[in-house]
Amino acid sequence: MNTLALYFHIPFCNERKCDYCSFISFCNKNDRMDEYVDALIKEIKMRGAKEGKEYKISSIFFGGGTPSVLSDGQMTKIMIAIKQNFRLLPNAEITIEANPESITESKLREYLLVGVNRLSIGVQSLNDKLLAAIGRRHTSKQAKEALSLAKKIGFKNINVDMMIGLPEQTLSDVKKTVKYLIKERVNHVSAYSLILEPGTVLQEKVRVGVIKLPSEDETVEMYNLVLDMLSHAGIKRYEVSNFAMLDYECKHNQNYWRLGEYLAFGVGGHSYMKDTRFANTDDFDKYLQSIENNTLPIVSVEKLSFNERREETIMLALRTREGLNLEEFDNRFGGHFLRDKKKEIEFLSNRGFISLRNGCLKVSENAYYVLNSIILKLV
Ligand SMILES: C[S@@+](CC[C@H](N)C(=O)[O-])C[C@H]1O[C@@H](n2cnc3c(N)ncnc32)[C@H](O)[C@@H]1O
Ligand code: SF4
Repeated sequence: MNTLALYFHIPFCNERKCDYCSFISFCNKNDRMDEYVDALIKEIKMRGAKEGKEYKISSIFFGGGTPSVLSDGQMTKIMIAIKQNFRLLPNAEITIEANPESITESKLREYLLVGVNRLSIGVQSLNDKLLAAIGRRHTSKQAKEALSLAKKIGFKNINVDMMIGLPEQTLSDVKKTVKYLIKERVNHVSAYSLILEPGTVLQEKVRVGVIKLPSEDETVEMYNLVLDMLSHAGIKRYEVSNFAMLDYECKHNQNYWRLGEYLAFGVGGHSYMKDTRFANTDDFDKYLQSIENNTLPIVSVEKLSFNERREETIMLALRTREGLNLEEFDNRFGGHFLRDKKKEIEFLSNRGFISLRNGCLKVSENAYYVLNSIILKLV
């Protein structure tokens, strides 16, 4: 029986959106969380009748938005519905994203009780001025307290999200944040370079010049500092933005990067199954309405061509430490990659950009800054 990863989108956040964020999340709909949870449960039942019989579940991810703004008891209702409608593998990884200001002891206990075994805390930075400058709703003290509470309550697998390339951020800010995460022995760090998203408050502030971002070179320096510090502490990079202690790599994300199948629930959820991408509506009311009418809220379907799947597989694999497994790749897509791309592979390996180890083609540690050009040559 094939395995499947499940994603649940929880589109609620506190008070006001962070200045840089363009994810689908609403700050004025928290009075509709019950309605939304009921719709999710119905969507789970609709999907369970088909995919629930066909697959075993290898990982579940509650992302957002901010899943930790759900009220006490709501995660329990969702998890019960999942367990009633899908078969979870005994070692399934179950992650929930949480923000420092909405983490409470009772919620954390509830998560553990219903089987959540991985917590992802959005810390971003431990500099209060920086947090305020990007519109975060918490202080560094709250972030530290959330982390220590999670450990005290018994979470053994904790990720922290942090960001680099933030307005006014310095190398010393980055160093302090990473040093703290290492001291606290977090198992996993996702370090994202700020993307200036169109339509966000931050983009407007940068456009009118009230805020200045670090240069690209400065952001690369921040990234290299994160890489250096974490890797010395045994938290190794296994994807461009992701670092983990051995055996704490995120299975859910690894499934994405291997172009495995995943099914998403909730508003704006994007799925990939049977070589086909499909997406739920990102309109909150339309989502609820569609579920109410017993119709899946799908608004787009795109079957990937052979070439698209082939290119996607190369692109995703080269972003990871594992690299591209050539035997698997040839079995999946036919041909002989080493022979077919002989000229390009020689060109890149002569310059030290890639290497071939244990049958896998990997991008060299110091060549990630030209990753896109390497991918372009190989697809
Ligand atoms: C969608 S958020 C959800 C998690 C949670 N609400 C939070 O804020 O931590 C997941 C992560 O994406 C990252 N992120 C969001 N917007 C980003 C942007 N414009 N550029 C880079 N990273 C971003 C942040 O690090 C955030 O923790
Ligand atoms: S970054 Fe997280 S908390 Fe901030 S608006 Fe986006 S989803 Fe909400």
